[in-house]
Amino acid sequence: MVRLNSIGGWRFTRAVVLCAAAALVAGGCDKKGTETPGGKKAQTDTPPAKAPMVVGFSQVGAESGWRTANTKSIREEAEKRGIKLQFSDAQGEQENQIRAIRSFIQQKVEFIAFSPKTEDGWQPVLEEARKAGIPVVLTDRAVKVTDESLYVTFIGSDFVLEGRRAGEWLAKKTGGKAMIAELQGTPGSAPAIDRKKGFEEVLGANPGMKIIKSQSGNFERGKGKEVFEAFLRSPEGSQITALYAHNDDMALGAIQAIEAAGKKPGVDILIVSIDGVHDAFAAMLEGKLNCSVECNPLLGPQLFDVLEKLRKGESVPRRIETAEGVFDQSQVTAEVLKARKY
Ligand code: AHR
Repeated sequence: MVRLNSIGGWRFTRAVVLCAAAALVAGGCDKKGTETPGGKKAQTDTPPAKAPMVVGFSQVGAESGWRTANTKSIREEAEKRGIKLQFSDAQGEQENQIRAIRSFIQQKVEFIAFSPKTEDGWQPVLEEARKAGIPVVLTDRAVKVTDESLYVTFIGSDFVLEGRRAGEWLAKKTGGKAMIAELQGTPGSAPAIDRKKGFEEVLGANPGMKIIKSQSGNFERGKGKEVFEAFLRSPEGSQITALYAHNDDMALGAIQAIEAAGKKPGVDILIVSIDGVHDAFAAMLEGKLNCSVECNPLLGPQLFDVLEKLRKGESVPRRIETAEGVFDQSQVTAEVLKARKY
């Protein structure tokens, strides 16, 4: 087994693996390769048939509309390109993700990609992948490891920027005065940590904006509703003038809670959230949600572009970010809603 400790190292190994795979499929290597098992030189210039790429993908779960769109994008793109995708849904449990990655290693997949639930706890399994010579790509969420070469690249969004954009929108809308309830994402996850950080940077420059309630709704609609109901019942409930939700699904749950309490979401309580999913656009069109900061889940094409480059031995950037916008409710028309892809 080849032990790898750099991208250059596994590029070489990839070439060897591809040659071996081609030998299995075509019965020998091309002219640049070695001899056929029978000891005869290959007689033809025909390039060797390529073995289909096998990718293990560990998805964190199905907690939100964003996640559903992300899974669909990855599955559809793999199918379109003839890539064999071993897809595993961890149902929100980090242990399931670690188990899935170990199983991909055992199956000797060519690449592993995953969207990690939390930032911490990945070092050992990533070391196992490296030991097996399998390159790992992070999609959507980042990890904290002492050795960043344990993964090849990160593909996803700048979550701090998203939080800052949400804060800036609210500061502009309210003239810097708001009593805010915050629905945080999954504890310990990169988007929850970074979106809070970016938002609080804006609060630092706007002393009239204060977070008076804050709790995790785990990025789930039902949990967002439940937590916001409790916020409204709390002694500070009547003071809330704005909601900052780390994702659209929690905001949509909170909208139900606000309506059940006899208030008008988007009017009595201003709402800004993150993702820009179809349901959020529908809520903006109805005037119940005021702003959604975009976070693009359609990462399938980018992921497989990267893996195909790596397979060819080409280098890829260490971080690949998606371009995203901010949608105020005033921009959302029936046509815009209809054209929304996710
Ligand atoms: O990591 C991306 C976040 O995870 C999305 O904003 C959220 O909706 C999802 O569950």
